[in-house]
Amino acid sequence: MLNTKKLGRNLLEFDELGSTNTYLKENSSDLPDGTAVIAKCQTNGKGRLGKVWNAESDMLSMSVLLKALDNPMKVTLMSAIAVTQAIEALYPLKAQIKWTNDIIVNEHKVCGILCESRINGEHPDIVCGIGVNVLTRKAFFEEHNLPYGSSLYILSGKEIPPKEMGEEILNKLEPLLSMSFEEVKEEYKQRCVTLGRAVRAVINNNEVIAKAIDIDDTGRLVCENKSGRFTINAGEVSVRGLYGYI
Ligand code: BTN
Repeated sequence: MLNTKKLGRNLLEFDELGSTNTYLKENSSDLPDGTAVIAKCQTNGKGRLGKVWNAESDMLSMSVLLKALDNPMKVTLMSAIAVTQAIEALYPLKAQIKWTNDIIVNEHKVCGILCESRINGEHPDIVCGIGVNVLTRKAFFEEHNLPYGSSLYILSGKEIPPKEMGEEILNKLEPLLSMSFEEVKEEYKQRCVTLGRAVRAVINNNEVIAKAIDIDDTGRLVCENKSGRFTINAGEVSVRGLYGYI
């Protein structure tokens, strides 16, 4: 549980880092709970499933250190809700979640979240890394062959500085972290584009096709196919829509 320190009160800013997640993991013992790190550029940024997530100054690269939390999975779910709320507070856009934590606007990915943990005593330190395409121009997605990627600038025409986006996310995340997932499950479900869709999940190198039908009380994706019902844990799988990215 976050104590008296406000999230991001200790905000460290760098012109360049390899990865904001790696920085916090390496320095977590010396930094207070709730510390946030923003880097203008990331040269060795990490995405989910071992992918690279490098970033220029037109993107937000931010990580938050959360100590002694009893439920790391909750951070992943709550940070996705926080990003959607922050987007809707700053832009005339509707933001949705592709389970578990890609943020989607108009069927395009505008943000990815990578939560990692570092064992430190009884409870792990959680590092929640958030990368948002804030001011990214069209040419970037074309050059990197990312047809499903877009930015908040492209989708809204609004030029909001990445740091302002980061601060708004911290404002939204703080109250969510003191709530239980059950309290916000309905909001998560309403924002979740994955529900009701056919998904292809790759679990331990095996491809499984099913319909996503629900989110359970711990945030797992409940799916159904001819073999019956089963749940998928975040972090273990890549879930893609059958007819495109979502
Ligand atoms: C994804 O694959 O969708 C997750 C991307 C997470 C990127 C962010 S940027 C800030 C933080 N630092 C990292 O190295 N990765 C995360």
